[in-house]
Amino acid sequence: MKAIGIAGSFRENSNTEFYVKKALETLLYKGIETELISLKEKVIKPCTGCYDCVKLNRCTIEGDDFEGIFEKMKESDGIIIGSPVYFSSVVPQLMALLDRAGFVALWSGKFFTRKVGGPITVARRAGHNLAFSQLLLWFFINGMIVPGSTYWNVGVAGARGARNAQEDEEGIQTVIQFAENMAWLMEKVKC
Ligand SMILES: Cc1cc2nc3c(=O)[nH]c(=O)nc-3n(C[C@H](O)[C@H](O)[C@H](O)COP(=O)(O)O)c2cc1C
Repeated sequence: MKAIGIAGSFRENSNTEFYVKKALETLLYKGIETELISLKEKVIKPCTGCYDCVKLNRCTIEGDDFEGIFEKMKESDGIIIGSPVYFSSVVPQLMALLDRAGFVALWSGKFFTRKVGGPITVARRAGHNLAFSQLLLWFFINGMIVPGSTYWNVGVAGARGARNAQEDEEGIQTVIQFAENMAWLMEKVKC
């Protein structure tokens, strides 16, 4: 079984990437193959609403990194999606990926149905709930199964959003517990 973790931040020393890696390390420890996909050096153009995917079963936007990531999403048994919180929302580069991947999947094959996964969001201080809910809605409309944890999978980055999310011990424990539950669930639902 394989799980990927998509980290939506463009920042060096990203807090989000730190948490996504924590989850992937836990999954690896539980025997699941893992891969981190950072959007840092990737270009994902936004959905244009052309509806080509409805007719052609694929996204027709060209000249960016969408296809490679989408293929990995389709091949994986588990998907973790991590986003920094910007004005209480998911970052646009990640929404560009999720809009396009979700729309192609919904119209042409329900590719993500019964995969296991969940969101992680990281904010300096507040706004997690909305961003976390945005991602949950994406998981649910795609028929995915989302395990819980001991709290929501959120990290608090602290002053100036510096990379001190590693000091948020509760956030780290929550993400580790989420990943343990995800590994347990993946084992239960594997075909
Ligand atoms: C444009 C922008 C908007 C932000 N909006 C919020 C916000 O609504 N709430 C918050 O607590 N932090 C906010 N932050 C801080 C980031 O969420 C924080 O720095 C986070 O750690 C970034 O994650 P990253 O290190 O993975 O990029 C914002 C930062 C930027 C650049």
